[in-house]
Amino acid sequence: MKNTKGIILAGGAGTRMYPMTQLYSKQLISVYDKPMIYYPLSTLILSGIREVLIISNVETIPYYKKLFKDGSHLGMKIEYAVQDAPKGIAEAFIIGEEFIGDDQVCLILGDNIFYGYLDFLRYAIKENEGATVFGYYVKDPERYGVVEFDESGQAISIEEKPKIPKSKYAVPGIYIFDNTSSARSKKIAPSNRGEVEITDLIKTYLSEENLKVKKIGRGIAWLDSGTPESLLDASAFIAAIEQRQGLKVGCIEESAYQMKFIDKKGMDQIIEEMPNSYYRDYLKGL
Ligand code: G1P
Repeated sequence: MKNTKGIILAGGAGTRMYPMTQLYSKQLISVYDKPMIYYPLSTLILSGIREVLIISNVETIPYYKKLFKDGSHLGMKIEYAVQDAPKGIAEAFIIGEEFIGDDQVCLILGDNIFYGYLDFLRYAIKENEGATVFGYYVKDPERYGVVEFDESGQAISIEEKPKIPKSKYAVPGIYIFDNTSSARSKKIAPSNRGEVEITDLIKTYLSEENLKVKKIGRGIAWLDSGTPESLLDASAFIAAIEQRQGLKVGCIEESAYQMKFIDKKGMDQIIEEMPNSYYRDYLKGL
């Protein structure tokens, strides 16, 4: 199987979240009981990805480094890179070119939360050739990248935040690309909003018939937490699940343990270094 690396894009100006984002990027704000970035990191871990690059602005990178260090305590390798200005999602592949090397890469946006059985993702990573993206049925597709399918279920167009969406299928912020993504991104002209658009990168694969678009079923919850309202919704959602089940969502240590990135000894060590907290009690009880 091809080696797959992960990138979490966790920068952005966060202007929609002001004044919460005065000190650091929004992906450090909490969704219920843990920082937002825990959720996408946990998603990557549960997909079997051990090498991750976190991209953020220069103010926030030191905080991420403090949180995750080199990742070795999680049985991972975590690296960091700065995005000087929010110049678009696809810029992640330019910044991450060296990190990606000869491997394929799974990019997840730091404010995207997935809840449910992640087999669709593990399968897509395993099967990917050129690029694989997803389609998720939503009420308000105009807020997102929108993919249109023909009768046979084949993707025929993709548009960034269209005024009149051609379908109800939004493209969630998780993407799998082969290692040509860096070279392709360099050739993309910035859009009207001055960004190297992920949708334009995806289009290059679509026009070469090298793109798979997989529908994600309604059994998966996809939440984004990029506005005050969606942040509150995401917190309420996670709280409801966690309180009902007594199990945590987005618990990176538990995910690493589940995926056998760390053994019991590694987990004990993590717990030992953690301050007394509900979170620590939870890990102890696993
Ligand atoms: C970005 C992408 C969009 C995608 C969305 C998912 O939008 O440009 O294609 O559907 O993330 O969260 P943004 O959040 O930058 O407006």
